[in-house]
Amino acid sequence: MRSLSALVALALAFGAAAVPSTAVHKVKENVVSPRGWTKRAPAPSDHIIELRIALPQPKFDVLEKHLYEVSDPFHERYGQHLTKEEVEALVAPEAESIHLVNEWLASHGIYEDDLARSPAKDWVHIKVPVSLAEEMLKTEYHIWTHDASGDSVIRTTSYSLPEHLHEHVELIQPTTVFSRTKSLKTSFRFSEAQEKSVAIAANAPPISVPSASGGHVDASCNQTITVTCILELYNAVGFKASATNGNQIGITGYLEQFANIQDLQTFFAEQRPDALNSTFKTILINGGENNQTLDEAGAEANLDTQFAYGLTFPTPATFYSTGGSPPFIPDVLTPDDSNEPYTEWLDFVLKQKTLPQTISTSYADDEQTVPVSFAKRVCAGFAQLGARGVSLTFSSGDGGVGDGEEDPALQECFTNDGRNVTRFVPLFPPSCPFVTAVGGTIHVPETAVFFSGGGFSDVFPRPAYQQLAVSKFLNKLAPGTYAGLFNPNGRAIPDVAAQADLFRIFLSGRPVSIGGTSAAAPTFASIVSLLNSARISKGLPSLGFLNPLIYALQATDPSVFNDITTGNNPGCGTPGFNATEGWDPVTGVGTPNFGKLKDIVTFDFADVLTNAAKLGA
Ligand SMILES: *[C@@H]1O[C@H](CO)[C@@H](O)[C@H](O)[C@H]1NC(C)=O
Ligand SMILES: *[C@@H]1O[C@H](CO)[C@@H](O)[C@H](O)[C@H]1NC(C)=O
Ligand SMILES: *[C@@H]1O[C@H](CO)[C@@H](O)[C@H](O)[C@H]1NC(C)=O
Ligand SMILES: *[C@@H]1O[C@H](CO)[C@@H](O)[C@H](O)[C@H]1NC(C)=O
Ligand SMILES: *[C@@H]1O[C@H](CO)[C@@H](O)[C@H](O)[C@H]1NC(C)=O
Repeated sequence: MRSLSALVALALAFGAAAVPSTAVHKVKENVVSPRGWTKRAPAPSDHIIELRIALPQPKFDVLEKHLYEVSDPFHERYGQHLTKEEVEALVAPEAESIHLVNEWLASHGIYEDDLARSPAKDWVHIKVPVSLAEEMLKTEYHIWTHDASGDSVIRTTSYSLPEHLHEHVELIQPTTVFSRTKSLKTSFRFSEAQEKSVAIAANAPPISVPSASGGHVDASCNQTITVTCILELYNAVGFKASATNGNQIGITGYLEQFANIQDLQTFFAEQRPDALNSTFKTILINGGENNQTLDEAGAEANLDTQFAYGLTFPTPATFYSTGGSPPFIPDVLTPDDSNEPYTEWLDFVLKQKTLPQTISTSYADDEQTVPVSFAKRVCAGFAQLGARGVSLTFSSGDGGVGDGEEDPALQECFTNDGRNVTRFVPLFPPSCPFVTAVGGTIHVPETAVFFSGGGFSDVFPRPAYQQLAVSKFLNKLAPGTYAGLFNPNGRAIPDVAAQADLFRIFLSGRPVSIGGTSAAAPTFASIVSLLNSARISKGLPSLGFLNPLIYALQATDPSVFNDITTGNNPGCGTPGFNATEGWDPVTGVGTPNFGKLKDIVTFDFADVLTNAAKLGA
């Protein structure tokens, strides 16, 4: 409800409606018509659209500096994460930006009570009819349909703002975002088919893997991955996580993916009997749903929750079901179509005082379909979580260096910028330098799985933490290798890897074998969560943003990761990159050795360094 006093206060404070609506507009953002989408009818003018307006975060570089200091194991501030309020102060916009945007909104009849703000006031949300959005942004919205899937969205390829607002507004969406969040799963097949191919005798001797718990892994793990296989392979057998020390794990779900509780119990009965009857908290965000009908169980959500919760039991677990994702039916009765799931999720979690210390996501878009301004802003949201001590894992993608399309006629290995030149296809968010991108392996002993997403961002430059490891790899490449197909100065993907195929889960009451880097991300996150459990029980802070630690450890004690040196990740009609000794764009620095990592991270790095300094003095 808009109150009179609020109106008066606004008018007094800002001289509302002082700006003539004839202010000179200039184009703020402009994209070429996206490949694979067809512009259909004009958007219905009375359709309500939820616009999110991003105000610049002038102190973001200070936040980034803090993030790197508290995440660098050799820094004295390691682990001294920021509070919610400290992070908010560092992403707050200038008062002038807030004022000028208010003034502009007021000139269109939109006042404080008509809008919502993020706690830091760096985002403003308004719900307006398309006709008003078109007037405010001097644009025309259309219904666009994605050719391959038939999904429809309301978008424009260009929008304008009064010239004086350009430096006070970073971006406004939905306008130019034409991404389609993909659920990263492949090789989904039912176990009947799989059982026919099972050739491992019940009495086959275990496979010897020196870095594994006890030095060996059950022979069956070469064909079927279970919770026990992962614990054996990554040297985590026998570790007991705490149920009560405050450590938690979170899994995100989008695209109407529901994690089914009955399937989870069936999975526990088979693979983690001590976890039977335990469950998780489902949090619904932005109209996210949670239909527990067995037939509605989502393969992605079940895979992520069954393995993450099975591996980390009894760690308290959360599943976030975020709505607002395609397919959107452009019906005038549909209330809104924000269609930007990561920002909806970030809005929600950044408002929470307490968060799971480890959160895994198995969804992504082709980086080039996300406008650069939007990718940077979402990535800045992930940095805020890192600064607060949250570790974020993302699956690196299931298309190798390409888009996963096998039929050359359908491959989309071309730039989307109007030049249409051949290019590898990195994915976002894994390309964001503030998250940990997880690639995939298969079999025992491990080798890179062919679909493991890897490569180099075209948006984000290479962060310092991976400079040494990545340049070693690039120096080994034959000169001219894939010249023009990737950006050798970009943020390199993935950072790490984990098993990514032949996972046995339960779906709608039946066992299925499923794979994808979708399986690898929650698996790696689970190992991180167990490490956090060990640290928190010793009174140490959570690991937070992992990458500086990962590359520092790899440089000082490479044995904490199982280096994957065989396999490659074909795509775009090429064999892709090779897994090699050291970091590579297929499996990163490799898969985790929990036992060794635990021994290292349960030391207080700050203490160790302070003591070393004292001894030296
Ligand atoms: C595991 O399976 C792969 C693929 O079938 C095979 O090449 C490899 O030899 C197997 N490993 C062992 C130890 O049997
Ligand atoms: C789970 O619940 C069932 C039914 O209440 C009970 O019989 C069983 O003992 C419980 N199992 C565990 C491991 O708590
Ligand atoms: C859940 O899904 C079932 C089957 O698809 C459907 O009949 C039911 O109405 C749904 N329930 C809710 C609460 O949406
Ligand atoms: C881009 O180039 C490829 C390969 O030459 C071609 O198949 C495709 O149709 C082109 N797309 C556009 C939008 O021009
Ligand atoms: C991958 O390794 C093979 C075999 O050694 C080699 O022929 C090929 O050039 C390598 N590919 C790249 C991209 O380095």
